[in-house]
Amino acid sequence: MEKLLTSILLLLMTVGPACAQQGLKDALGKYFLVGVALNTYQSDGKDPRATQIVRQHFNSIVAENCFKGEALQPEEGKFDFSSADRLIDYARSNHLTVIGHCLVWHSQAPRWMFTDRNGQPVGRKVLISRLRRHVRTVVTHFKGKVHGWDVVNEAIEDDGSFRKSPYYNIIGPEFIDIAFEEAHKADPKVELYYNDYSMSMPGKRAAVCRLVRHLKAKGLRIDAVGFQSHNGLNYPDLHEYETSMDSVAATGVKVMVTELDMNILPNPWNFGGAGIEQNYQYDKVMNPYADGLPDSVSTRVNSRWMDFFRIYYRHRAQISRVTLWGLTDGSSWLNDWPIKGRTNYGLLFDRNYQPKPCVADIIRLFSK
Ligand code: XIL
Repeated sequence: MEKLLTSILLLLMTVGPACAQQGLKDALGKYFLVGVALNTYQSDGKDPRATQIVRQHFNSIVAENCFKGEALQPEEGKFDFSSADRLIDYARSNHLTVIGHCLVWHSQAPRWMFTDRNGQPVGRKVLISRLRRHVRTVVTHFKGKVHGWDVVNEAIEDDGSFRKSPYYNIIGPEFIDIAFEEAHKADPKVELYYNDYSMSMPGKRAAVCRLVRHLKAKGLRIDAVGFQSHNGLNYPDLHEYETSMDSVAATGVKVMVTELDMNILPNPWNFGGAGIEQNYQYDKVMNPYADGLPDSVSTRVNSRWMDFFRIYYRHRAQISRVTLWGLTDGSSWLNDWPIKGRTNYGLLFDRNYQPKPCVADIIRLFSK
């Protein structure tokens, strides 16, 4: 009896710490990449507690901001890769696959991109050559270091029409083809993605699938569609979200969940998407959990996370990556968007860098 007890104790001592060390990537990584977006403080390695979570739970990273147009080419022809290169070094020393976000986006684009020296809109030819140069230079710089690129971000409205961005207004819808073509030319081996929010909307779903088929018919490379997945407690409609995964997969590309988080704060405008230009006035009633999250809400949040991860489990054969848009609640953009200065609880790790209860449940779900 005593011998048996000793063996059990010994077993617990060896298996216990191993279980505690089990990360999301160990369970989910069997099926797809498990990523997280890092801000520059984190990717500069200045937050050791963040690095510890990254190493335990993730095998992929993406820059929250420092790969965007305005960061990489602040002045025409003057590229600044300093922060982005530090992220690449960080990834190398922590064995992480890097995803590039993003090459062509109307938001956080270089300020000079769409206008000439006199502040007048540039013509089609000029914008095409600026777009090509940005894509070519950036993709070439990171050749062999980045696994895949969000080539075009948010080009389609929820109703399926093209977003009337300066790229669209000046070039026409071909700006998308041009971006994919140029990216592939610069690095034939790198994966290329189209990325958007509100992918559960039927109009957007249809238009994105049409776009994928169009690119493929033109012989252009596209590997996946990114579902940003800035979710909430009441949106998206889970059934529509799953339908979109099936529809995208049916076009012959992978599904990627690229910017996963969950806004749990009041949403009086019935707000769904992630248009970063949308901003609302701060009001105390809009920030009800500044001093902590009541248990009842916390339970609801954990169960909503499970709803999503059950979907990812069901669709695991279609999915090639799931990336969280941030590491801890404290570092989430959801504290400042769509209203500045709130206390949100949008991620899988809390303000003390502790995993929420659902993390263990997610690991269990994918370990079966
Ligand atoms: C957000 C960042 O998280 C913020 O830090 C920044 O101020 C604005 O952009 N869709 C995207 C991301 O594709 O790049 C956005 O990231 C969130 C919405």
